[in-house]
Amino acid sequence: MVLPIGPLMIEHRLIERMISVMAKEIERIQSTDTVNPKFIDTAVDFIRIYADQCHHGKEEKILFRDLKKKNLKPDDQRIMNELINEHVHGRDLTGRLVAAKKKYELGDKAALEEIVNIMNQLVNFYPKHIEKEDKVFFKSAMKYFNQTEKDAMLEEEYEFDKQFIHVVYKNIVTQAEQNL
Ligand SMILES: [Fe+2]
Ligand SMILES: [Fe+2]
Repeated sequence: MVLPIGPLMIEHRLIERMISVMAKEIERIQSTDTVNPKFIDTAVDFIRIYADQCHHGKEEKILFRDLKKKNLKPDDQRIMNELINEHVHGRDLTGRLVAAKKKYELGDKAALEEIVNIMNQLVNFYPKHIEKEDKVFFKSAMKYFNQTEKDAMLEEEYEFDKQFIHVVYKNIVTQAEQNL
């Protein structure tokens, strides 16, 4: 029996792999004193598209949405608010990383420290966020739903994923049209 938190926990494992690569890239940046902007582009794309739109998307638009309809215990409510705020914080850090990378590309070498600092924050923050969901929140969250509700959520997650690539590329085309 697959629970709606099943796919989310599988996605956490891929996010952790990217975070590990980012941690190694921080060491490389520091030992060579150079930034590889292409790596930053790849990491930002992964965080924005996969971790935020796809993964946080399912958490916020399906799991958290349904939890908001329940009478949550104060602790669960508090943790859910923290998780939502952490998603916002992740978006903010990612935006700042993009800005710092642009500065570096324009020749501002001081942006290297800023890039390292922001990447460090992402590398430190994401595993803690994931652990809070995996080990604490997800298990408590499942107690609020009966089997029919859990099945409906899982089905909606599958449907979300099925549509996802089309949404992503539609956005890319729309963006390209606007940049003409
Ligand atoms: Fe999350
Ligand atoms: Fe998550």
